[in-house]
Amino acid sequence: MSVLIAPSILAADFSRLADEIERVEQAGADWIHCDIMDGHFVDNISFGPAIVDLVHKHTSLPLDVHLMIEHADHYVPRFVEAGATSITVHVEPEAKHDVGKTLDQIRGAGCRVGLTLNPETSFELVEPFLDKIDMLLVMTVHPGFGGQPFRNDQMEKVRRAAQWKKSGAQKIDIEVDGGIDPETARVSIDNGANVLVAGTSIFHAPNYTEAIRALRGDSVGD
Ligand code: DX5
Ligand code: ZN
Repeated sequence: MSVLIAPSILAADFSRLADEIERVEQAGADWIHCDIMDGHFVDNISFGPAIVDLVHKHTSLPLDVHLMIEHADHYVPRFVEAGATSITVHVEPEAKHDVGKTLDQIRGAGCRVGLTLNPETSFELVEPFLDKIDMLLVMTVHPGFGGQPFRNDQMEKVRRAAQWKKSGAQKIDIEVDGGIDPETARVSIDNGANVLVAGTSIFHAPNYTEAIRALRGDSVGD
């Protein structure tokens, strides 16, 4: 299965966001990953639906919205309105929502349905929902900040998701997020991931096209 690259705009230069989005689109990005943080579920605040709407106006790529917020159910309609293609919510009780209901809400709104778990959260928590989702996001850092080191210990969850995917009829995407560079991209793909979120390794690179190719495992000139 081919690998999809989803640059996280958290690492982009916000003073020229439209240009950054157009550049990663031209560089071969598959999706744009939008990290939404509320200062409660995670210890950081990023941006909200108004910025997602702006991103939507500057790209035809699917928008992959990752909600690191409490009460996601309350905000889902605003992100749908802003142009989200997929919406991913957290499974942890600290996210303060009825996970099953929110997944149904996202589906009902016509978006792709994503579920995610923090490095400290056990895989058992997502298992009951696997047949309701289109994508499982395995966090490979504790969410809140870009630029953290990749957690190799999370690969067991990627393997478990890949096993589940193999045994069932449902073909979910397995996404990883945090500390993805060409080396950890390879590790993630080898364990069964097919969607790679990357902030720092794309937006802090001198050449976005080369950075994206390197994440896919292509060498320059291929
Ligand atoms: C972490 C976010 C990630 C993060 C990835 O809270 O969910 O999407 O921005 O950034 P890098 O690639 O810099 O680890
Ligand atoms: Zn993210």
